[in-house]
Amino acid sequence: MSLLARANELADDGHRVIHLEVGEPDFETPEPIAAAGIQAINDGATKYTDAQGDPELRQSICDFYRKTAGIEVDASRIFVTAGASGGLLLLTALLLNPDDNLLMTDPGYPCNRHFLSSFNAEALLVAVSAENNYQLTPSLIEQYWTNTTRGILVASPANPTGAVLSQADLVALQDSVTTREGFVIADEIYQGLVYQDQGAPSALSVSDDMLVVNSFSKFFGMTGWRLGWIVVPDSVVLELTKLAQNLFICPSSIAQRAALAAFSDDAVSIMQSRRDAFQKRRDFLVPRLRSLGFDVSEMPAGAFYVYARLPDGSASAEHFCQRLLEEKYVAITPGTDFGFHEADQHVRISYARGINALEEAIERMRSFLS
Ligand SMILES: Cc1ncc(COP(=O)(O)O)c(C=O)c1O
Repeated sequence: MSLLARANELADDGHRVIHLEVGEPDFETPEPIAAAGIQAINDGATKYTDAQGDPELRQSICDFYRKTAGIEVDASRIFVTAGASGGLLLLTALLLNPDDNLLMTDPGYPCNRHFLSSFNAEALLVAVSAENNYQLTPSLIEQYWTNTTRGILVASPANPTGAVLSQADLVALQDSVTTREGFVIADEIYQGLVYQDQGAPSALSVSDDMLVVNSFSKFFGMTGWRLGWIVVPDSVVLELTKLAQNLFICPSSIAQRAALAAFSDDAVSIMQSRRDAFQKRRDFLVPRLRSLGFDVSEMPAGAFYVYARLPDGSASAEHFCQRLLEEKYVAITPGTDFGFHEADQHVRISYARGINALEEAIERMRSFLS
């Protein structure tokens, strides 16, 4: 956050800052979705909705799972939330008591451990690396599980690494956790943004017991609308409804009406072409970063981030990012924002910016490094 503040200061002083620290698509919300949001206001759809979310939207989400992945989910198991963040908060409130812990990867999305600490529960961070595809594995679960561990949280594709879990990985994780009477939370917020032929399987294809988090933020380009959803087992629906009612009353009525248009053919084809643009950017960026000496072990399979080891001989990541910003006006994120394990030797570079910006950033980095 301090880097972002400094980047904005430099921009205010007239410097042309290239923002590769960003965690949101540069594209606007697709036009059919925005138009539906405006229509919702004009139609007066500005009142509270069901705590669980608009039934029509929940049904559309079910249809989406059926159409895109052949997965049958009943709408009664879906909760529309204020982004994935609202969903993760609800699940933390539901599932964790003080002193419980949850296994999650280091590096990983930092807010998750803060959700836990808000409830006096704890994140048990598990160091992962390119060797285990930056994801939890049954043997890591075996190694780290304690008698106060209640489950695991995985993200596929993950932030900051873009690493994707295969169907076999998900099955193995579920088996390992079920044996220990725990639960799996699968954060699938980047699921539409996958650049491998086999896509990224949803945890719902493995078991109805999985707690799945998703969002309209990234693939659907609706970060500021604050809308997401979770899919939960039948057994927790009642308790979760009480929590949702008490904590949020309901998600935004306008955003929900807008999101209904996110599943229209027009919107989907816009989103698919943006996905293709992200893939081109990734394919452009990664070889060039490698040629500058950054170590990117695998082509990231999803999301819009590259998690790279700094070139040999570089300063610590925080120092590197500060200097790159001050001297070349390129903003990237130090690994220390995402955890502790070798974090100070890594940076996250976002390609939620166009190819021209990426090209210029590479040239500025080349001159910085030389
Ligand atoms: C892995 C992951 N999960 C959850 C979120 C929260 O997203 P939102 O609340 O906008 O849906 C983010 C945001 O960057 C993320 O990267």
